[in-house]
Amino acid sequence: MFYQHNINLGTKLGIWRIEETEGFFLESVPLKKDVSHPYKRLQHLAGRHLLPTLFTDFPLSEILIADTRKPFLEDERYHFSISHCGNFAAALVSDTHRVGVDIELVTPRLYTITHKFLHEEEQAFLHEWEPMSKLHLELTTILWSAKESIYKWYGNGQLSFREDMRLSGPVSFGADNWIRLPFEFRKNGRMDMTVMARVFDPLVLAWVVT
Ligand SMILES: CC(C)(COP(=O)(O)OP(=O)(O)OC[C@H]1O[C@@H](n2cnc3c(N)ncnc32)[C@H](O)[C@@H]1OP(=O)(O)O)[C@@H](O)C(=O)NCCC(=O)NCCS
Repeated sequence: MFYQHNINLGTKLGIWRIEETEGFFLESVPLKKDVSHPYKRLQHLAGRHLLPTLFTDFPLSEILIADTRKPFLEDERYHFSISHCGNFAAALVSDTHRVGVDIELVTPRLYTITHKFLHEEEQAFLHEWEPMSKLHLELTTILWSAKESIYKWYGNGQLSFREDMRLSGPVSFGADNWIRLPFEFRKNGRMDMTVMARVFDPLVLAWVVT
């Protein structure tokens, strides 16, 4: 386990650094999905492996996949969300709240699509930092990751990253290294939510729990 955070009594987040081979994960994870690329299969298995690592009674064999590709449990005993990138996998599991999690590697390639996922007001927020600086790139990645976490929290697809999820107030940088981002979710009405984010060089993590 690279990192674990128990958000509240019934909600836990974990990040796994993948150093094992497929065989290690297959001892505990039933591979139900056809993932042909070996590295993606390893990431997929590591994400699943985290679920019972966080909650030992997590029923891995009962996971279903929705048409939107969101994995879920029919009886909703647990809400959960999974992300992977590079040799890391993350999972967020809750027996009470709806959740979304995302991890991303920080790379300037993201700048090529900034206009697609950030509204002009969000781009203006980033102008406070020196363009292309390390902090500017990390914050851009955090905004992307925050929106991916909201996308997963929602789970039904069909969202505009620019319009349906919008940074709605000042971002606060805590002494505990957590960054709080107030968001307004605008699909089918309006809902305020807070995305929490953190930088773990070379990763950023973002999660939402409602
Ligand atoms: C589904 C999506 C969020 C996955 O994100 P990603 O960065 O490619 O991959 P991640 O590793 O972070 O997440 C993959 C996991 O997300 C989960 N997932 C897939 N579809 C999902 C959905 N609709 N809702 C919730 N979770 C989903 C799965 O658990 C998957 O892992 P698994 O197949 O091993 O179980 C992404 O591919 C996507 O579709 N994004 C929105 C596309 C879009 O509108 N882009 C426009 C932006 S401008």
